[in-house]
Amino acid sequence: MKTKQRLDKILAHMGFGTRSEIKRLVKAGEVEVNGSTVKDSGLQVNPAADTILVAGEQVVYREYIYVMLNKPQGVISATEDTRERTVIDLLPEEYRHFEPFPVGRLDKDTEGLLLLTNDGQLAHQLLSPRKHVPKTYYAEVAGRVDSRDEEAFAKGVTLDDGYETMPAKLVILKQGDPEQSQLSRIELTIQEGKFHQVKRMFEAVGKKVVYLKRITMGPLLLDEHLPLGGYRELTEAELAALPLVKKE
Ligand code: URA
Repeated sequence: MKTKQRLDKILAHMGFGTRSEIKRLVKAGEVEVNGSTVKDSGLQVNPAADTILVAGEQVVYREYIYVMLNKPQGVISATEDTRERTVIDLLPEEYRHFEPFPVGRLDKDTEGLLLLTNDGQLAHQLLSPRKHVPKTYYAEVAGRVDSRDEEAFAKGVTLDDGYETMPAKLVILKQGDPEQSQLSRIELTIQEGKFHQVKRMFEAVGKKVVYLKRITMGPLLLDEHLPLGGYRELTEAELAALPLVKKE
């Protein structure tokens, strides 16, 4: 983080309004820095060291937010879209002004764990193909998933575009019947994140995923208390488990 920044930029980042709204707040004498009322909204301030008060209340500055979302179906993993609702539309303004983005993508019809942050370095750590961050999905698959699928996934399967997947761990929770009239319930852990990967891995063994939900990403576990569409900030323990890059 830069040590000194314009006061209006800091306050905009913390959700006190647009630059011109903040200018008005300052003109109205509502903003103090280190005990003195400020007249210039362009004043250079160090948010980590200087004490900023707005209407007598101290502004506790922070640069990054880390939010866990239980993504529902029907919203897309993007920050904006002209037609579709995005995961960012599910957040309140108190988080949106930090300009978070989803770390990776879940399909429109996939539910579950999605991390939203404005920390680009963390996103890179979690998404870089070289890091092999494991992700576990719960899926319901038409018909009978069996030990041959476990073996195939453990070796890696060939997707429709010829890509050979890395070894993946399949756990069968409940086996459906062969006539496809029942569902198999499974968990699959993959170490990469190709487009539609879980669905395409099952297609590679001739089966169809009918429901998909992500339950883990690296050290993060979906909080089962979060309803679909629900969100919360990560706890200290969750943050401590993440590969956060120390910032100045
Ligand atoms: N694999 C898929 O097929 N879809 C997702 O949303 C995530 C992983």
